Amino acid sequence: MASTNYIAVTCVVLRINVRLLLFHTQAVILTRTDDDSKDPLADATACARDVPIMKELRTNIIRTYYINPDADHSACMKLLQDAGIYLISDLSSPNSSINRADPEWQVSLYSRYTSVIDELQQYNNTIGFFAGNEISNTAATTDASAYVKASVRDMKAYIKQKGYRSMGVGYATADVTNIRVNLANYLDCESDDEAIDFWGYNVYSWCGNSTYEKSGYSTRTEEFRNYTSPVFFAEYGCNEVQPRQFTEVDALYGDTMSEVWSGGIVYMYFQEANNYGLVSVVDSTSVSKLKDFTSYSNHIATASPTGTNKASYTPTNTALQVCPTVDSTWLAEATPLPPTPDSTLCDCIANQAACVVSDSVKEAKYGTLLGVVCGMTDCGGLHSNATTGKYGAYSMCGVKDQLAFALNKYYDEQDKDASACSFSGSAKTQATTKATGTCSAQIKEAGTAGTGTVSTEATATSGSGSSSTSSSFASPIGLHSSASFGSFQVAAYIATALLAGVGMIAL
Ligand SMILES: *[C@@H]1O[C@H](CO)[C@@H](O)[C@H](O)[C@H]1NC(C)=O
Ligand SMILES: *[C@@H]1O[C@H](CO)[C@@H](O)[C@H](O)[C@H]1NC(C)=O
Ligand SMILES: *[C@@H]1O[C@H](CO)[C@@H](O)[C@H](O)[C@H]1NC(C)=O
Ligand SMILES: *[C@@H]1O[C@H](CO)[C@@H](O)[C@H](O)[C@H]1NC(C)=O
Ligand SMILES: *[C@@H]1O[C@H](CO)[C@@H](O)[C@H](O)[C@H]1NC(C)=O
Repeated sequence: MASTNYIAVTCVVLRINVRLLLFHTQAVILTRTDDDSKDPLADATACARDVPIMKELRTNIIRTYYINPDADHSACMKLLQDAGIYLISDLSSPNSSINRADPEWQVSLYSRYTSVIDELQQYNNTIGFFAGNEISNTAATTDASAYVKASVRDMKAYIKQKGYRSMGVGYATADVTNIRVNLANYLDCESDDEAIDFWGYNVYSWCGNSTYEKSGYSTRTEEFRNYTSPVFFAEYGCNEVQPRQFTEVDALYGDTMSEVWSGGIVYMYFQEANNYGLVSVVDSTSVSKLKDFTSYSNHIATASPTGTNKASYTPTNTALQVCPTVDSTWLAEATPLPPTPDSTLCDCIANQAACVVSDSVKEAKYGTLLGVVCGMTDCGGLHSNATTGKYGAYSMCGVKDQLAFALNKYYDEQDKDASACSFSGSAKTQATTKATGTCSAQIKEAGTAGTGTVSTEATATSGSGSSSTSSSFASPIGLHSSASFGSFQVAAYIATALLAGVGMIAL
């Protein structure tokens, strides 16, 4: 942070129609991702050990892949704030993320995402969130990006609705040749309310002694020259040639790239089995600096991107991108997006169902049972297809509530014959209460088939309900790693405040 004049944490504003973040992110990554119990910002001792080292690397942003919203982050956040370091955190967790193989945007994930925002918003050095990391990574998985975009839309709305400080919601993407242009356009098209606030690029194309041209950096830079949202590297640091030289740092913070890119976040702070670390942990109070640390440190020390002053900065790239059309290489409609998870509606349909799943059925069996029931009645109300843009009203509910909808629908269709609510003891009848108010209005809009569009909004914040079992099986976050995410994987991103002010345009 030396020689720089980073902005006061109270006036952090990202985007809108602004190409650069308020400063160039220089960062190292700081987190572990295989384990829902290890939160790097909940360990004050480790933060006291690591924050000074990050500062030595001129870090001004760290990225954490996982935090536990119930843990106390005050000590670490204070250490970071005192060191001039901001936080961008991923909203998902290893066990709870959008699964590219079976994408959903459901109440349980909504609840996870909002819980992270609720926890971190209280710290002024939190500047934003990633709503996903490397979800779509082939043409065949591009439909998953509709769910990512729905989550971006809903988290932006949530931050506004709660009256929180302005914080950005972006996305971190893998660098995949055949989908990168469509993906970038998709996430930044249609409307500001749905568009990402920043595009984080996980780029590993500069290996060893590469060059601006050879690495593809030049092409990427031209591709993003007119992009509306700020763009930065959300991970970088190819390790095919070791030790890493980090010559890309000179390019990234050089004049040409810093016109377009707001710096980057090095993957990553801690040494792991996948060999991307800058330091390796010795014990709770010390780390040893690796060769990569030295080379990174040498390059970042001389980084001095030039930029425009806030006062003289006039954004020109204000038009959103054009949404890609659906074809064999792009499988997600931009409109409509998946519905906003609304636990009020899910609770409502479950309470209205006269036939529901029996208590004796294990959660792991819900999916199978749902398959059986939906073989006997039309379950369009549960379907979700980003390619056709068709979403059932209950597609955002947890699987238990979905079962209630399907079982009850079948039971109704069989004129409530006792034999139609049995499924060998897997289903049972229950007493229902008459739907009133919002519940009644929403159920009417959804219709008997569940395929109508629900426009009545619940008064309470949606998504926080009890119906938490998602039928989605979250995939591990797709980091560049070997299968093992052994111990501590902190992705702190080193960002210096080299371009203070450039992006500070009020929302
Ligand atoms: C997360 O998933 C892992 C692997 O399936 C499992 O061992 C762990 O208990 C899960 N954690 C939570 C909090 O569900
Ligand atoms: C965050 O910023 C607000 C507004 O300037 C200030 O009132 C508050 O005390 C700050 N909170 C912390 C934890 O620094
Ligand atoms: C890297 O490439 C540059 C320019 O081509 C060259 O001057 C330098 O000697 C090379 N360094 C190594 C370690 O190969
Ligand atoms: C960016 O905008 C400029 C000015 O409008 C235009 O000349 C240029 O072709 C655009 N570049 C891309 C990659 O769209
Ligand atoms: C979505 O619908 C299309 C057209 O019916 C179908 O080809 C595709 O397989 C469906 N996608 C999913 C994920 O079910």
